[in-house]
Amino acid sequence: MASLLVLLQLAVAAFVSATSTTFSVPNILTPHNEFSPPFRVTPRNLGFSVASVSNEGYLHDDSINSSYTLTSGFQGYPTFCSIQDRSFWFAGPVQIQDAQQQTVASTSSSVAMALDFSHPSSIRELSPRPESSWPVIPLTPAEQFVSATYNQTYQFDATAHCSLINDTSALQFWDAWSYNSGLYNCFHTGGSFLVIYTLDPATNKLTVSRPAPVYQKEAIQYPYGSFSTLTVQGMTYLYAWDVYFPPSDDLGGEEDTGGNHRDIHVAVAPTSTIEDKSTWKYYDNRTGTFSSTEPLPTTRRSSAAIIILNDFSTEFANTFLSASIFYSEYHDAYLLVYAPIYPPGIYVRYAPTPLGPWSSPGTKIMDPTQFGYNVVRYALASPIFFQTDGNGGQSLLLTLSSDYQTQAFKVNFS
Ligand SMILES: *[C@@H]1O[C@H](CO)[C@@H](O)[C@H](O)[C@H]1NC(C)=O
Ligand SMILES: *[C@@H]1O[C@H](CO)[C@@H](O)[C@H](O)[C@H]1NC(C)=O
Ligand SMILES: *[C@@H]1O[C@H](CO)[C@@H](O)[C@H](O)[C@H]1NC(C)=O
Ligand SMILES: *[C@@H]1O[C@H](CO)[C@@H](O)[C@H](O)[C@H]1NC(C)=O
Repeated sequence: MASLLVLLQLAVAAFVSATSTTFSVPNILTPHNEFSPPFRVTPRNLGFSVASVSNEGYLHDDSINSSYTLTSGFQGYPTFCSIQDRSFWFAGPVQIQDAQQQTVASTSSSVAMALDFSHPSSIRELSPRPESSWPVIPLTPAEQFVSATYNQTYQFDATAHCSLINDTSALQFWDAWSYNSGLYNCFHTGGSFLVIYTLDPATNKLTVSRPAPVYQKEAIQYPYGSFSTLTVQGMTYLYAWDVYFPPSDDLGGEEDTGGNHRDIHVAVAPTSTIEDKSTWKYYDNRTGTFSSTEPLPTTRRSSAAIIILNDFSTEFANTFLSASIFYSEYHDAYLLVYAPIYPPGIYVRYAPTPLGPWSSPGTKIMDPTQFGYNVVRYALASPIFFQTDGNGGQSLLLTLSSDYQTQAFKVNFS
């Protein structure tokens, strides 16, 4: 209880500046030891035969009986981030409800901590507690200006897990949405931007910074890094979706706002200069070359894609909203875990390098319908959580989101 009081006092004292936030985190340790792979590996254990799948339940904080109830229309499901011996869950707008479903606290972006690896759905909310409602992602001066002037607020969401860039820092791309409370509608004014988390283990402080608070504008530019990020030997790979409009466009949504995510493209930057976008290079899979010229999504560039997700026979089944790319020590391979929205299924592909070549089609490793899912909106995978079970990657932490709630699953490969 004493530590909780300390936490709350520190939370209230959280320091917010234009583009960075620093706050204290409680001393809840979840040690993991991430292996740093070479660029090219020799894949093994690739049968992907699954020994067991366990349902770990909805993410919840027993101390306040929280539920993640997200504002309708936003996508900010919890994303996982392990730095040294702390494991965080970053999420978009979160509302805490009491037993009568009354909202008692909410934030525009939030953070919780994983309590221990044996119970991955047990979390401790840090920011959206009734006593301490504060956002994790700081507003830029321009966003503060809009918020103050036009009766609007900003909300943020991330759709991919963070990835480590060195021992003490991780990065993640977030999307910004502006929300007009008066007219009760919301619209996307921003796009995606870079966030860097740095944990100082000596002082128990986590700093969240937006070093380049510049948007990759939605539909005008590709959201590099929003699909997934990966750092290997000093280079950071920033994966993005391309949007494919099927010939009979009955599922693709309106032009330049929707479409079926299907082709995966990648930009690469030296990790040390990731904040300087002029150092990013864009990969063309057809020629195997990098270019400094940023491709723009005016036409489908499928020949430049490193992966095309087309496993299934219908456009509807080939519709994806989220996926994860990471290195699995157990498989000695880079894995892509992905899930069509409908019919639900979790699939994996693999590659010897972050650029590919990627195996095709995917191998099904889980059937969410066995756990009552008719639709899976977001499915994210991480090999980090269960490192104690063996080599990282023998067990995956899967989070499935639907109906504004998130359930954790553990998939064990044999
Ligand atoms: C949370 O819910 C459980 C079961 O409904 C209840 O026993 C417990 O007292 C609640 N805890 C708090 C802090 O409200
Ligand atoms: C890790 O990366 C961060 C962000 O780029 C940087 O500020 C920090 O100095 C790096 N730390 C080490 C130990 O390289
Ligand atoms: C601002 O928000 C208030 C409360 O929701 C609403 O009554 C008012 O009409 C809004 N003003 C504008 C200009 O949207
Ligand atoms: C990417 O290039 C590699 C090497 O040429 C090739 O094997 C692979 O099929 C290409 N991927 C796609 C999606 O076209």
